[in-house]
Formats: sequence, structure tokens, C-alpha cells
Amino acid sequence: MNSQAAQNKSADDLGAFKAELVAVADATNATLDKLLPLVPGPENRVIEAMRYAALDGGKRLRPFLAVASGDLFDVPRARSLRAAAAVEMIHCYSLVHDDLPAMDDDDLRRGRPTVHKKFDEATAILAGDALLTEAFTVLADPATHPDGAVRANLVAELARASGVHGMVGGQMYDLRAAEVNPDDAGLKRLQNMKTGCIIAVACRMGAVLGGASPATVEALGQYGMDMGLAFQIADDVLDVESTAAETGKATGKDAAAGKATFVDRLGLEGAKNLAHSLVKQAGNHLAQFGNKANLLQQAAMFAVTRRN
Ligand code: IPE
Ligand code: IPE
Ligand code: MG
Ligand code: MG
Ligand code: MG
Repeated sequence: MNSQAAQNKSADDLGAFKAELVAVADATNATLDKLLPLVPGPENRVIEAMRYAALDGGKRLRPFLAVASGDLFDVPRARSLRAAAAVEMIHCYSLVHDDLPAMDDDDLRRGRPTVHKKFDEATAILAGDALLTEAFTVLADPATHPDGAVRANLVAELARASGVHGMVGGQMYDLRAAEVNPDDAGLKRLQNMKTGCIIAVACRMGAVLGGASPATVEALGQYGMDMGLAFQIADDVLDVESTAAETGKATGKDAAAGKATFVDRLGLEGAKNLAHSLVKQAGNHLAQFGNKANLLQQAAMFAVTRRN
């Protein structure tokens, strides 16, 4: 079988993962719906914008990873879904801000107008801010875990992944990439920070909830980092190869905006090969779990074979 045929075959074999992704997405939506109730009062507008950003749509890959990682340690779903909701709030906030005119200036997200288009810029900034802070309210609640030390660990994990050494730092680097012109190691660091850290922390939080050893938390984190880089490379491939109808967001923008990507560096085939080798590397970090990690193995393959 040639490599394209092998890649197509792998894409066809993801049925179990795809069914579970949908199930976890539904459960995550129900959790988010309860966590973001509307209120009577003028501030309700920001909650409407938060709900617009966080409910309805999205693949919910990060929630899946938090829940599937928790499943390895028999974490009750009522707990792992709260971690899943928290990481999805951070992800949705990052998208709302990423789409602002001051950043990528996008009008379409998840097949609908972006939050600043549907509402206005000030509301979009506030909705992002509030999703960010609400994520930590969720983690700090005893419903997430009865042990305060575990909750503090979750809060520290998510804060580290989201902040200046993680997603926010990566977004700053992304905006400065044309000026900095990073080498390949620098570009890998940029993409690990902006995308890998949030995907990795979803995996880590499931393990933290399950009382896993630091080495095991780290193994799941390494799986998430490798897969996260593959996921961002695939996103950059889709920006070239796909359409807004398929992805629900504008395509063909990265080259025009002068974004640093591995597609730009290595060409489409080179970038796809790198993404596939990262999927393999991601899978190696799951060796200790054997067949119990089959869905996570499939999730890594999905990261690079998805069409949206
Ligand atoms: C988009 O993430 C932003 C990147 C990190 C590439 P997703 O592709 O997971 O977006 P949704 O949540 O499915 O909309
Ligand atoms: C976004 O990367 C990463 C984030 C931290 C939000 P992109 O800018 O490539 O994501 P899309 O293509 O807008 O979803
Ligand atoms: Mg961006
Ligand atoms: Mg963008
Ligand atoms: Mg993109």
C-alpha cells in the first residue's frame, strides 16, 4: 500500500473514535449549557456572546481528550466533563480573540459570523475574558474534585498552558513571526505554544483527575504536544487545500497574512509527512496503556485526516 492509500485507510478506520467524539461533544454541550446560565440584567449580553461562542459547533476535540484521558483512570464522567468544559471555554475564548480585527480579522467561525461580527468588538473582548475566567471558576469548584490539592493542580495546569508560556505567548509569537522569521525549531516552538499546550493540557487534566503519577501525566502531555503540533500543521494544510464551506472559516488566509507555517516551509506534501510522523510519535507515548488507549490513538490520526 502506498503512503496515500495507507493514510486513506487510516482515515476510514476511525469509526469508534468518531462515535465517541460525538457522544462527548453532546455531553460537553449539556455541561456548558448548565455552566453558562443567562441572567436578568444588562450584563446578560456578555453571557449571550459567551454562549454563542461556546455552544453549538466545534469538533470538541479538547473535551474528548480530557474525558478519554480520564477514562484511562476510571475518572467519573461528572468530573472529567467539568475539566472538558473548562478547557473548551479557554479554547473558545482563544478563538474569539484570534478572530478579532486586531488579530486574524476573521468574519466566519464554525460556519457562522464571528462573535465581534454578531455582537460587537467590545462584547467579543469581554466574552473572551469571561470565558477565560469562568474556566477557572469551574475547576475551583468542589464538584470538579473533592480534594482541594487536585483542584489547585488543575488550575495551575490550565493557567500555565493558557498564559504567556503557552497559548497567549504563542499567539504573540504568531503575530510577530514575519518580523522574527523563526527557524524551524522556532516555528515548532511557536505552534507548540499556541496550539499544542492547550491540547496537551486537556490530556494532562484527565490524568491529574485520576491521580496518575507525574510521569504518567507527562506521558499523556507528550502525546498531546505531538498531536497538537500535528493538529496545527493539518489546520495550516486545510487553510490551503480546503474551503470555507467545509471548514466553517475563511481559507487561503495564512499565506496572504504572511503567517509562518510548515506548509510555507516544507510545501504541502512535506507538511503532511511531518504531521503523520508526529502522529506516530504521539502514539508511542501511549505504549503503557496498551489497547485501553485505542481511542486516543485514533484521535491522533483524526487530527491529521480530518476535513474540517
Ligand atoms: C482551531 O481549532 C484553532 C486551532 C488551534 C487550529 P479547532 O479546529 O479545534 O476548532 P473547533 O473547536 O473545531 O471549531
Ligand atoms: C489559532 O491558530 C490558534 C489559537 C490559539 C486560537 P489559527 O489562527 O490558525 O486558527 P484558525 O485557523 O483561525 O482556527
Ligand atoms: Mg491565529
Ligand atoms: Mg485564526
Ligand atoms: Mg488556521
